[in-house]
Amino acid sequence: MQKTSNAEQIEKRAKGRRIWRRIGIWMLLILLFFAMAYGANNRIEVTKYTYETDALSVSFNGFRIVHLTDLHNKVFAEENEALLREVRALEPDIIVLTGDFIDASNHTNVEDALLFMRQIPEVAPTYYVYGNHEHYLSKEVLSSFEEKIKEYGVHFLYNETVQIESQTGQTLSLIGLDDLSLQANILKTLADEAPDDFQILLAHEPQYLRTYYAETGVDLVFSGHAHAGQWRIPFTHQGLYAPDQGILPEFTDGVYTEGDTTMYLSRGLGNSGFPLRLFNHPEIVCVTLQTVSADPS
Ligand SMILES: [Fe+2]
Repeated sequence: MQKTSNAEQIEKRAKGRRIWRRIGIWMLLILLFFAMAYGANNRIEVTKYTYETDALSVSFNGFRIVHLTDLHNKVFAEENEALLREVRALEPDIIVLTGDFIDASNHTNVEDALLFMRQIPEVAPTYYVYGNHEHYLSKEVLSSFEEKIKEYGVHFLYNETVQIESQTGQTLSLIGLDDLSLQANILKTLADEAPDDFQILLAHEPQYLRTYYAETGVDLVFSGHAHAGQWRIPFTHQGLYAPDQGILPEFTDGVYTEGDTTMYLSRGLGNSGFPLRLFNHPEIVCVTLQTVSADPS
């Protein structure tokens, strides 16, 4: 009788240990998941590219374009210090912003977006086009936002082209296409009327590369919107879902070419309705122009 009782107690203790071991393993897995999710949403990665061209004056050799997109009013560390530090370190000649800097889903915060808009032109001349989220805001909110960012020195481009000058005065054209105007005829008019042969397009949505952007013959496109598919399959560029592309989207991040057009698509920086990125760090894109021009000017 005593023997049975001892055996029962031993078995009971072993069972207790097994349960605690399982709880420990689950807690560790949950902690790991949260640590990974925190990193995937807060640790910024910088992706550097070199774009080689014979279509530009050598005075643009080494010209550096930093591309930020889809911040969705996220603030990195105290007052964006983590984000600004990374951008400053890249010593950009210009900064381009391709929309969705305000989130209009479930965490709209215009003040946080304005904080960033006040800070970023202090680093380098900044050019900005709206994404779909800015247009979800009321006209009153958006026009007050627009007024303020212009005061801060952000060059807001609404279906507009500006010329970017090299240090010796050569130019290229930077076309800003508004997200509500993603139509082939509007872009074609802008590209036809752009004063320079070398043209860079800022357009929020990447899925029009083949249908609109490349058709107009622009040289470079900077785009966002897809958030790299929000959750990515590890060790791949395959995301699970992107707006306007659906499940397993084609355009997620990286470099895409079509004809003579090269598109840089950033993973973006923040989140929209669904608050979690997985295997998909916030990204800053930096493109350095490398000229192989016969024109020595
Ligand atoms: Fe977005």
